[in-house]
Amino acid sequence: MASSWTVRPRPGAAAPATGWYPVARSAQVGTTPLPVGAGGRAWVVLRLRPGAEVTALPPRCPHRLVPLVHATVVDGRLQCPYHGWQFTAEGRCAEIPSLGPAGTPPPRADLTGPWAVEERDGWVWLAPERTSTVRPPRSGGAVPTPEPVPALPTPAGPVLGNLDPSLEHAWHPVALAEELHEGGYVQVRLLGRNWTVHRRGGVLDADPPAWGVVERHGLVWIAPAEPRDAPLTVPEATDPRAVRAWLPTTRSGAPAGPLTDLLLDAAHVPVVHPGTAGAHEPVTEVTPQAGGSTSVVSTGPGRRTTAVHRAPFRLRLRTDELDTGAARTTLFLLQPEDDDSTRVFSCLFLTPPPGTTLTADEVAAEVAAASAVLAGDLELAAGLESTGLPLLPRDELHVPADAPGVALRRTLADFAAGPLRRSA
Ligand code: FES
Ligand SMILES: [Fe+2]
Repeated sequence: MASSWTVRPRPGAAAPATGWYPVARSAQVGTTPLPVGAGGRAWVVLRLRPGAEVTALPPRCPHRLVPLVHATVVDGRLQCPYHGWQFTAEGRCAEIPSLGPAGTPPPRADLTGPWAVEERDGWVWLAPERTSTVRPPRSGGAVPTPEPVPALPTPAGPVLGNLDPSLEHAWHPVALAEELHEGGYVQVRLLGRNWTVHRRGGVLDADPPAWGVVERHGLVWIAPAEPRDAPLTVPEATDPRAVRAWLPTTRSGAPAGPLTDLLLDAAHVPVVHPGTAGAHEPVTEVTPQAGGSTSVVSTGPGRRTTAVHRAPFRLRLRTDELDTGAARTTLFLLQPEDDDSTRVFSCLFLTPPPGTTLTADEVAAEVAAASAVLAGDLELAAGLESTGLPLLPRDELHVPADAPGVALRRTLADFAAGPLRRSA
């Protein structure tokens, strides 16, 4: 194993001298990021090639704050699992795929590593800040005691979590309509509370009482207090050519805000779902609307995806095949159950080319493919370690392909701040 005795000062690193911290045995550190703590802060340490010197980096990606403990080493760089940004041993962001081959990552995308990291006597030592001792101490036979790994840093500004009080003022899906038979009831979880929804004499009501209970888009919805969200229209629901098929209802431990962001995001598709869509072209138009936005993304020649978001957590994603006239629409309708639980209702509308029909096998294959993609998204979401969607722009780093996500954040920041205009 190579042993590094070279102190690599971080340019511009400042006092105070806080000293060296033992963080792990050298033998523990390989090419998989290892979470450690030094000076009360979390870091990841790893080797960017087998046997190479140890690299220490901060624990979250600056883009969407994904924990870098889930990153992988690719060609001697650390690659974030969400959008494939790559970082060098010095923390420099060397690759942002959505910028295209000619794109240059902005300096703000760089990670700020510790002042120095070094191996000595079989241990990895980390100096978070410039220290007067240029090398870590000798252990002298004593076994160093690494500090416990601290919690990951959280955004400085507000985040929209699943129990945000503003969410009382919105319609939320809570059950498939077909689950609730005449004379029956379902028990559901919404915004940290239990609710029982009855259907009696064709009328829906909730216990505890809610401002409203309705059936819409094949789901039962509750508005705990007077809603101020704008409706999501679904033209496909009345298109006689569109075939509707539900995906199995599923659940995530991630809050609904980051999950909505993930489901809206097109830039992660080539990284997380390789082979599921044509080459992504970062051509995006975003139109802000009352209570939401519409984004149009070119996802390859002859293919266009239109994404409609309505606060808080409703998406309609329609991909048109311009050459054949076929279309595929996915609804994602999220139920914020608890701060660490979100239920995901998802429905497909499949529109075949004019003059053709879909077989049951073709519909089943589409459902299976969409379910596999959703499973990939939920697996990624499980590692986000997020308490909600950051609403302060400078808490994350936005690049042009993030325009739909920036609009989502603005919409939800407005929603959390106060009354929204009702749409016409
Ligand atoms: S590349 Fe890390 S979160 Fe986007
Ligand atoms: Fe995805």
